[in-house]
Amino acid sequence: MLKRTEYCGRLRTDHIGQTVVLNGWVNSYRDHGGLVFVDLRDREGLVQLVFDPESHPDVHKIARAVRCEWVIGAKGLVRPRGEGLENPRLATGKVEVLVEAVEIFNASKTPPFEVDTAAQVNEELRLQYRYIDLRRPSMLNRLAVRHRVTKIARDYYDANGFWEIETPMLGKSTPEGARDFLVPSRLYKGLFYALPQSPQLFKQILMVANTDRYFQIVRCFRDEDPRADRQAEFTQIDVEMSFVQAEDVMRMNEGVIARVFKEILGVEVTLPIREMTYRQAIDEYGIDRPDLRFEMKLKDISDIAQASQFQVFTGTVKKGGVVKGLCAVGGGLKYSRNDIEKTLTQYAADFGAKGLAWFKVGPNDAGDALELKSNIAKFFTADQQQDIIGRFGAADGDLILMVADSADVANKALAPLRVRLGKELGLYEPNRLEFVWVIDFPLLEWNSDEKRFDSLHHPFTSPVPEDLHKLETDPGNIRSQAYDLVVNGSEIGGGSVRIHDPQVQAKIFDLLNISRQQAQERFGFFLKALEYGTPPHGGIAFGLDRLVMLLTATDNIRDVIAFPKTQRGQCLLTEAPSEVDQKQLDELNLRVQKHLHQMEQEP
Ligand code: AMO
Ligand code: AMP
Repeated sequence: MLKRTEYCGRLRTDHIGQTVVLNGWVNSYRDHGGLVFVDLRDREGLVQLVFDPESHPDVHKIARAVRCEWVIGAKGLVRPRGEGLENPRLATGKVEVLVEAVEIFNASKTPPFEVDTAAQVNEELRLQYRYIDLRRPSMLNRLAVRHRVTKIARDYYDANGFWEIETPMLGKSTPEGARDFLVPSRLYKGLFYALPQSPQLFKQILMVANTDRYFQIVRCFRDEDPRADRQAEFTQIDVEMSFVQAEDVMRMNEGVIARVFKEILGVEVTLPIREMTYRQAIDEYGIDRPDLRFEMKLKDISDIAQASQFQVFTGTVKKGGVVKGLCAVGGGLKYSRNDIEKTLTQYAADFGAKGLAWFKVGPNDAGDALELKSNIAKFFTADQQQDIIGRFGAADGDLILMVADSADVANKALAPLRVRLGKELGLYEPNRLEFVWVIDFPLLEWNSDEKRFDSLHHPFTSPVPEDLHKLETDPGNIRSQAYDLVVNGSEIGGGSVRIHDPQVQAKIFDLLNISRQQAQERFGFFLKALEYGTPPHGGIAFGLDRLVMLLTATDNIRDVIAFPKTQRGQCLLTEAPSEVDQKQLDELNLRVQKHLHQMEQEP
């Protein structure tokens, strides 16, 4: 066998004059009748092989037979490319290898798509033939970055005294709020394990057990509908620490993020990462994961709007709603009235807005001041127009967009609109990174359907000590000791200081309407552990997949996972989920009622 002495992608002018053996896949071939050129690809890149009928006629004959994706070995002399034949787009573009011996390890069927142009091929086909899709340099690079991130994280936590400890995959349902994947037990018929939504309770118990500092790079399972930045099966860098406060957890864990961005992108993250309260994030950006690469803050103009003659606005404010909006710099020039009333209005409507009011900002007839131009401008006096222009700090050519509704609906529509406009108007450099800790989340969120409070993070999050007295009187206004790390509008991690007092934990369950009995059934083991000497503790979990998405600039979570599931929860390579043998069902004492074989529709 022709055994590799060098990677194709690593050959440089230093290698000129050396005889090397390369192993790889045929990326492309060009047969000019005389010379045959083959671009050979391995994990590290491509290099050009030359087969010369004059010098090596037998080898040349073999080379004429090879086709794309065949796997070959080639031995030859590295030489400079001829004058004018260098390829500046290839790292190996200054050299080529004159082949003197070749071995065909394996032929390949004609691939369903070419590796070079796979990026344009539909994703379903790429997922079916994932092994070919992954041969693309950009895909391999994502896997390499992912590997490096986990390596950096392991080194960082190890150096800081953390132990990596495994927690069970077959466990009891943990309450992160999503649906569980269940695994039937064969030995205990009718009973089920749940795959972990996160190791939350185990890592807290590890603190009770005096492991002091724990981390784990761990798979988590949540049976939710996959989205662009979500998979049912994803990976966390999960961390827990004893005898700490929120500050300590944040400072320790932003350190690993800084190191990752430094080592992989060469970007210096300024530490400590700035903080923003949940309240400020919602008020100014409409969302708890603000994209701070650009300004365009939301402004509440309810006070001005309610004095106007525009009934949509006055009516909304009267009913306790708000009129809130944003000012898109240069948007008045970029977007036509039709763009605004069709495209942007539809976009806002997709996120719940009932309408989108707009003003273009421009000079008045006299040319001595700015005024608002729009179908509804006539409902606003000159003074009110000046107030609105002043509130937004608007300038000539800007576009003001407003939603009148409940604060919640207005925020939910304006936040994505803001992100879209920021991108379309080019308000930030594409590779800019803005990190922020969002803090002071409310502990609880009122669930109006179920008429009870839900945890915003999870039920083990500790209230801020100063707010503890509100547990009975004003639970909706208790702040929690939770923190999320947000980068460019994406939540890459979140955690909290935990409750370590069993009595406080019991009170929280009461507020969540989890009865003592239910709490005992679901978390009895955990509540019991809390009673045997629990240190103050807290932690965090980063979404590894989302981190790698940011580092490799992709919006698609499937791009950073070797074998992902589709949006419909299928693995197209293996065709999971699939039927199982009757024997397997019998052993588990399970009976399948219907074989619909199609995705269940959510109501
Ligand atoms: P949380 O549920 O916020 O916290 O998850 C932590 C981080 O994991 C990532 N993430 C996901 N990534 C891809 N697909 C998903 N379906 C998905 N869900 C979450 C996000 C998120 O910030 N046990 C707590 C952590 C703690 O309190 O220590 C937890 O799981 O980037
Ligand atoms: P209408 O009176 O329905 O013709 O609406 C007049 C203008 O008000 C249109 O530009 C609508 O998009 C806008 N509009 C209607 N409802 C709302 C709302 N809830 N918030 C913001 N603008 C609205």
